[in-house]
Amino acid sequence: MSSSRTSRLPPIHRLLIIQDQPEADAVRAFIMSGRWRDTQEFTPVSTRNFRYTIYSFLLPPPSRLPCILKVAHAAPAALRPLRRLNALLSHWLRDPSRRALRGAHYLAAAGLPTYRPLACWQARRDSRWRDSFLLYAQIPARHSLRDYLLGVTGLPPDENARALENLTGQLADRVAALHRQGLRHNDLACGNWLEGDDGQIYLIDTDHVHRARWRIAGGVKQFYDLKDLRRLDLPTPLRRLFLHRYLGGRNTAFWWRVHQFWRQGASRPWRWLRRRLHLRAPSQRQPDL
Ligand SMILES: Nc1ncnc2c1ncn2[C@@H]1O[C@H](COP(=O)(O)OP(=O)(O)OP(=O)(O)O)[C@@H](O)[C@H]1O
Ligand SMILES: [Mg+2]
Repeated sequence: MSSSRTSRLPPIHRLLIIQDQPEADAVRAFIMSGRWRDTQEFTPVSTRNFRYTIYSFLLPPPSRLPCILKVAHAAPAALRPLRRLNALLSHWLRDPSRRALRGAHYLAAAGLPTYRPLACWQARRDSRWRDSFLLYAQIPARHSLRDYLLGVTGLPPDENARALENLTGQLADRVAALHRQGLRHNDLACGNWLEGDDGQIYLIDTDHVHRARWRIAGGVKQFYDLKDLRRLDLPTPLRRLFLHRYLGGRNTAFWWRVHQFWRQGASRPWRWLRRRLHLRAPSQRQPDL
């Protein structure tokens, strides 16, 4: 890219490069080159969230590190005007890439395997608002837990089921450790767990990781920790298994009811009521998941 063309490009704002990563210099050179603006060179990664577009690619040589670029749109075109304005405000007040970067740091500090963030920044692309960019290292992984859930791992069905049961136990241990350290993730769905080639399970999608307000172990904390499991999209028998392992000796029918309470929409009572009154489309989630 010629320097005259580079100088005419919209500037980069709020650039943060994680300096203690071995690729820091390569990352800086990549960002300054502006090559990230031309996403056609990258491989799109499927996402169900219209606020983001995600790409995978290799950092230019000599680094060649497999990376992910997750772009948060300031004002997603798919939204109706009022919701778009709402999304824009939230984007402006709480930069999603910075939040995700901080979330990944929280998880890593708590000893939970997650991705390695490299940099984040903001820049305008095809709208007047600044999109938010997060660059991080790809986790060498073949499957997410969602692949096991959907049975698309290529394993025979009984082997797939056994592996999913095994992974559910590991998941419960990880989430218990997360909550013990006073952290919450807010989107503990199977798609956000990757099974790494090293056999570990990695938690991704860290935009909403935060410290719990109630940190003293006890009933109130437990009640709100279970809210963090509301998106756990495992079938009922596996969720029972999960809770058994997650709660250990504290597992009672009461806590199962609390878990069900959150899953059925208690955190969004207005949305729940509108669904009951048929003023809102039913949830896309399969009944048992
Ligand atoms: N560090 C990573 N290493 C490997 N793959 C990744 C990584 N981060 C994301 N992915 C891939 O991108 C997909 C979507 O990522 P992520 O969960 O962060 O985005 P999302 O917007 O929440 O999408 P979705 O709603 O589909 O979960 C993941 O399911 C995974 O396949
Ligand atoms: Mg996700």
